[in-house]
Amino acid sequence: MKPKFYHFVEHGDSRGKLAVVEPGKDIEFPIRRIYYIYGADSNQRRGFHAHKRLEQVLLCVHGSCKVMLDDGSSRCDVTLDSPTLGLYVGNAMWREMYDFTPDAVLLVLASEPYTEADYIRNYDEFLKYVKRGGQPE
Ligand code: TYD
Repeated sequence: MKPKFYHFVEHGDSRGKLAVVEPGKDIEFPIRRIYYIYGADSNQRRGFHAHKRLEQVLLCVHGSCKVMLDDGSSRCDVTLDSPTLGLYVGNAMWREMYDFTPDAVLLVLASEPYTEADYIRNYDEFLKYVKRGGQPE
């Protein structure tokens, strides 16, 4: 599978740098939640789930980390190592995050509020969900 990236514009001058993510302009979906992962153990993978509806953009705004994406038929591994590089993670996409540097801050822009009902945490269930075309059983 081919991951979808965003390259956010960097505004820089002698004072430093600034990047902007504006819904409707820089990304397609409205941002209804923001969370960030920091202090992650470099030896541990996290994620291990997919979402039924949720769309996200992942940005490593400091340090770096890797993300494995799996759409149910193929996989890819991506390195996020720039505060202007965003990775789109659509619905029905299994994800695992790993190889966090000690200084990594992974920012997640999400299209919906947090709801456990939107999670698929079992990989076999995820494969069945994809096979059914995202329909409930
Ligand atoms: P978890 O889903 O395990 O994180 P990851 O996707 O990186 O494996 O979330 C860790 C904890 O944070 C868990 O107790 C649920 C909670 N949480 C919220 O309360 N709100 C949120 O928006 C998110 C993403 C997690």
